Amino acid sequence: MRVGSFAFAAYCGLTLAAPTITKRASVDDCPGYKATNVEDTGSGLKVDLTLAGARCDSYSEDLQDLVLEVEYQTEDRLHVHIYDAGLNQYQVQDGVFPRPENKKTSPSDSLLEFKLNENPFSFQVIRKGNNSEILFDTTGHKLVFESQYLGLRTNLPDNPNIYGLGESSDPFRLPTQGYHRTLWNSESPYLPFNSNLYGSHPVYFDHRGASGTHGVFLLNADGMDVNISKGDDGKQYLEYNVIGGTFDFYFLAGKQPSDVSRQYAEVAGYSPMYPYWTFGFQQCKYGYWDVNMVAEVVGNYSKAGIPLEVMWTDIDYMDRRRDFTTDPENFPHHKMVELVDTLHSRNQKYILILDPSIYAKDRSYGPYQRGDSAGIFIKKTGGSNGEDYLGVQWPGIVAWPDWFHPDTQDWWTNEIIGLFNSSGGIDIDGLWVDMNEASNFCHNYNCNLEEAAVGNPPALTHTPRPNTGRPIEGFPKDFQPGSTTPSVKARYASPVKHRNTLPAAARGMAAIASPQVNSRELGAKKGMPRRDLLTPKYKIQNHVGELSNSTLRTDQANYDGTMQYDTHNLYGHMMGWKTHEAMLKRRPTKRPFVMTRSTFAGTGRKINHWFGDNESSWEHYRLTIRQMLTFVSMHQMPMVGSDVCGFNSPAEERMCARWALLGAFQPFYRNHAEISTPQQEFYQWNLTRIAGKKAIDARYKLMDYAYTGLYRQTTKGEPWIKPLFFEYPEDANTFNIQTQWFYGDSLLISPVIDDYSDTVTFYLPKGNWYDYWTGNKVPELGGANITRSNVSFTDIPVFIKGGSIIPTRLNSANTTTELRKQPFNFLIAPDENGEATGRLYIDEGELIDQPDITELELTWKDGKLSSTGTRDYNPSNGESVEFKQITVLGQDGGSYSDPNTKYDAKTKVSRKTGQWKLNEDFQVSL
Ligand SMILES: *[C@@H]1O[C@H](CO)[C@@H](O)[C@H](O)[C@H]1NC(C)=O
Ligand SMILES: *[C@@H]1O[C@H](CO)[C@@H](O)[C@H](O)[C@H]1NC(C)=O
Ligand SMILES: *[C@@H]1O[C@H](CO)[C@@H](O)[C@H](O)[C@H]1NC(C)=O
Ligand SMILES: *[C@@H]1O[C@H](CO)[C@@H](O)[C@H](O)[C@H]1NC(C)=O
Ligand SMILES: *[C@@H]1O[C@H](CO)[C@@H](O)[C@H](O)[C@H]1NC(C)=O
Ligand SMILES: *[C@@H]1O[C@H](CO)[C@@H](O)[C@H](O)[C@H]1NC(C)=O
Ligand SMILES: *[C@@H]1O[C@H](CO)[C@@H](O)[C@H](O)[C@H]1NC(C)=O
Repeated sequence: MRVGSFAFAAYCGLTLAAPTITKRASVDDCPGYKATNVEDTGSGLKVDLTLAGARCDSYSEDLQDLVLEVEYQTEDRLHVHIYDAGLNQYQVQDGVFPRPENKKTSPSDSLLEFKLNENPFSFQVIRKGNNSEILFDTTGHKLVFESQYLGLRTNLPDNPNIYGLGESSDPFRLPTQGYHRTLWNSESPYLPFNSNLYGSHPVYFDHRGASGTHGVFLLNADGMDVNISKGDDGKQYLEYNVIGGTFDFYFLAGKQPSDVSRQYAEVAGYSPMYPYWTFGFQQCKYGYWDVNMVAEVVGNYSKAGIPLEVMWTDIDYMDRRRDFTTDPENFPHHKMVELVDTLHSRNQKYILILDPSIYAKDRSYGPYQRGDSAGIFIKKTGGSNGEDYLGVQWPGIVAWPDWFHPDTQDWWTNEIIGLFNSSGGIDIDGLWVDMNEASNFCHNYNCNLEEAAVGNPPALTHTPRPNTGRPIEGFPKDFQPGSTTPSVKARYASPVKHRNTLPAAARGMAAIASPQVNSRELGAKKGMPRRDLLTPKYKIQNHVGELSNSTLRTDQANYDGTMQYDTHNLYGHMMGWKTHEAMLKRRPTKRPFVMTRSTFAGTGRKINHWFGDNESSWEHYRLTIRQMLTFVSMHQMPMVGSDVCGFNSPAEERMCARWALLGAFQPFYRNHAEISTPQQEFYQWNLTRIAGKKAIDARYKLMDYAYTGLYRQTTKGEPWIKPLFFEYPEDANTFNIQTQWFYGDSLLISPVIDDYSDTVTFYLPKGNWYDYWTGNKVPELGGANITRSNVSFTDIPVFIKGGSIIPTRLNSANTTTELRKQPFNFLIAPDENGEATGRLYIDEGELIDQPDITELELTWKDGKLSSTGTRDYNPSNGESVEFKQITVLGQDGGSYSDPNTKYDAKTKVSRKTGQWKLNEDFQVSL
């Protein structure tokens, strides 16, 4: 959430003037490096790099001596690290990004080859093979390595297909001319175009059709512009412009697109498995005024017959927007406990939000007091007596936890367990961490705290809701509007709007001297001393201006001596991971569910992400698809999604209906809206009610198929949501597609894309396709664009790829608990040869350790279904793992068989659709 339409109005409508860039002439005059002392390590090289001429000191101090380390880490991964010989430059801490194991492969066994040019130093990374593809090539470009500017350019083929480098709202296939991607995590309401957003993932995929795909990951957390353009000579390039750290590259050989995903997972980590229930439909809104209203939304979903799995509450529940409190009048603690108990008794879940900022102006506020006495807040660098560094957030003037402090985890865990304990506390099922870029309402680094804090916490402007006497479906009597008396209280500030302009005093930037800060501990990979940490000379294209704008000042030190300048992009990542740890402490045997707004490469190892504060617009409906594709297939964050129907601005019925359908085919499925917008639950309109029901019905029947896909990604790194080119890497028609995707291996989703339209043109690759909704074979042959008209607002085109077996539940249900009692139906969509394959993974759904699982590879051949694998999962609580039915699409005939038994299903139900009902005797109990 956040900062809705009012607070950041200044950023939303206006295009900000780009900060001026110091001319690069001096960089072009830099001498580059020369390589000497080339040492063969058996599985790589160690080389000295020395500045090849006079220092140019273009943006900062040139570093004289560097080390180049080349490691053939595995057959398909090459590690190339260029760092300062003095080991002063910042390197991401191991605990924050655990490094992959170096398996010390012999270069001759590697798919890749590193080619060194000694003087001037440059290098190439080549994929061996018939056409020895040059993947990365710095030939002709000098390396620039300064304490606050790193520059490196690689030549690329013309019109390259580059993807990744998230998070952005830009085209999925990145523009190739005059384009830059800035990586600097930032508060970004309305997800502005061509801007840095909440997350930084310095990894790109370069797809070259039949020649293969490779990946390049730069392990560097400092701010950067990655420029993709053509030089004056017309040559295509990609260029890194980084304001610190080292050039720590991982080259991933591919050569299929999914191979690169797999190889990246080996570096950045595999996602954990998420609870089965997290695939259920979820509802939230900033501006559910009181606990009764929360209950009423849940009740209204029941009344409308729309399954709701998870209810969320935004910062509304907090007392004056303070973490670890509940509003005593509108969300009294005992009612919150009762709410969660009631939800749990209905097999529903509850999730709450936390922000990292801790109100720092009330000595009696426990979380601050305890944090302060543990000394875990970020200290004001250069301040006296260890005073806290302060800023402004929802509750007013705040301090921020220093995640590098060794005691921060315990403090955070204790606060979480204190409020959210399962015996007598608010027994939440997941946590949502927000504002963790970290966002600071003190919008520029020298702002006046008191002035910036005016209006925070924001006043509650709603009027108390009358007691209608109307019971809430499924809730105890005391959950009725009016049964507590919400009221606007003097405890809250008077309703003052956030200012859109900066106070005069803060505007004059020139007057602010940039302090030359010394790190507490110099060197030791913590960053060079004597840097300009506030206003470095190379200005990345941060859409909120200076590095420190709307966040913590970048000249503040962390406990371990590193600086916010270098670690800024890790703040949300670390907060998320610490929260994950706290959730594990609460429920040690269960898979935690923690959702974060801000991310860095590798965040997906533990937690998931939603795409932040989007807008209720068709543009952002479309944007959802490319963000999902990038995050799942390229950033290894497989449980992601947008705020369905959009967060900011009012949602419109037809758009929301389309989004309800689209959202059902993204991994994480939550409807969420901002405080000043009208409610947009699916029960609010006819179209969204119908579309929502249909979408949830389909999603739930397909839940085990999706769960199997997620499981595969968590174990193999193979993405379960894929762009079309992953499946058709040689079909150039697919490279640019950003409005369609594969949900699992077999379902091609092609929603209506244009505003208010009922017509969609989409690409159908060559092959057999079946309409998911009718089961009919698609008449077209594929390999071409297809147009469908009259697609109602409650429909979404979904096609099954020929050759697929899709496990489905026979019927949907109102909760995933009920869903798991449904037996299975296998949808079989044969290919040209009448064959198909598929997979099914089943486990208990919530436990971290799953001793007994079922994992099947399914094959349909010669009219028989067979399976191999393990079948150890023991259902309990009325769950079903019965194979009740198979449905063969598009043809007649067939039988059912299993390798361990001899089944022959003769009881054909409907010849027309090729559907059989297995005789009771033929049911398979796993
Ligand atoms: C090289 O080309 C030959 C013939 O086209 C092919 O059989 C072989 O697999 C190729 N080798 C590699 C490593 O791509
Ligand atoms: C990178 O691109 C941005 C935006 O086009 C531009 O302002 C900047 O000068 C470029 N950086 C370099 C080093 O060329
Ligand atoms: C629930 O539905 C009733 C009408 O059926 C409506 O008056 C009320 O506003 C709804 N409540 C919420 C919180 O959506
Ligand atoms: C960023 O901060 C600078 C320095 O205080 C200020 O001049 C500028 O207006 C700020 N930009 C925005 C968009 O707030
Ligand atoms: C919504 O559907 C109901 C019947 O289900 C109908 O009576 C009502 O007129 C519809 N409303 C609109 C705005 O179409
Ligand atoms: C399909 O339509 C899109 C959008 O009009 C177009 O860019 C693309 O080239 C078309 N593809 C084919 C194979 O005709
Ligand atoms: C969900 O519950 C409603 C009643 O609230 C019922 O009408 C509907 O059939 C149930 N849906 C499923 C799929 O069981």
